Amino acid sequence: MASFASRLIRWQRRHGRHGLPWQGADAYGVWLSEIMLQQTQVATVIPYYERFLASFPAPAVLAAASEEQVLAHWSGLGYYARGRNLHRAARIIVETHGGNFPRAFDDIADLPGIGRSTAAAICALAYHERRAILDGNVKRVLARHCGIEGWPGEKKVETQLWVLAGSRLPSAVTKGDACAVYTQAIMDLGATVCTRSKPDCAACPVQS
Ligand code: ADE
Repeated sequence: MASFASRLIRWQRRHGRHGLPWQGADAYGVWLSEIMLQQTQVATVIPYYERFLASFPAPAVLAAASEEQVLAHWSGLGYYARGRNLHRAARIIVETHGGNFPRAFDDIADLPGIGRSTAAAICALAYHERRAILDGNVKRVLARHCGIEGWPGEKKVETQLWVLAGSRLPSAVTKGDACAVYTQAIMDLGATVCTRSKPDCAACPVQS
């Protein structure tokens, strides 16, 4: 049987979400989308993402804006700490990275508002790096697929899930955008098939 990763990649090409405005964006756009998507649904995020990028097309423009202007663009999205952290991060990007969104995972993970999973998602989606992510959807997919019991918020369970997430990535010799497609696939599977209630197991590419 094909590997977990290759089944997900094949599924993604046909059944995953395509045409989202941040797909194929640069790291700055991917970062912005990942922050907006942390607590907000895709359909709600799209117009906010587009307005935000139109007003603040680069880190330096965002850094130069006032907090009031930034939060006005966040109005309605909720969880305003995300907008404040984005603004603070843009100022750090200007001060310490010459205005360019950082290329190194550790520098990305050091920015305010970016945890381990979000930093990994940015590196996988924007830079095609082989990095495991573990957001709420991915935890559910892996816990079900691997039969992991217990609450994923518990440290022991979470540690186990990180190991599984790393072990299921496309093989290290894979070239091209496979790691980006895989990352989008596992997020899409969790959001559209392996849903919290009433999962559509019959449509699951990794059911067997
Ligand atoms: N949720 C978090 N990241 C996402 C992405 N890149 N696409 C769709 N939903 C997401």
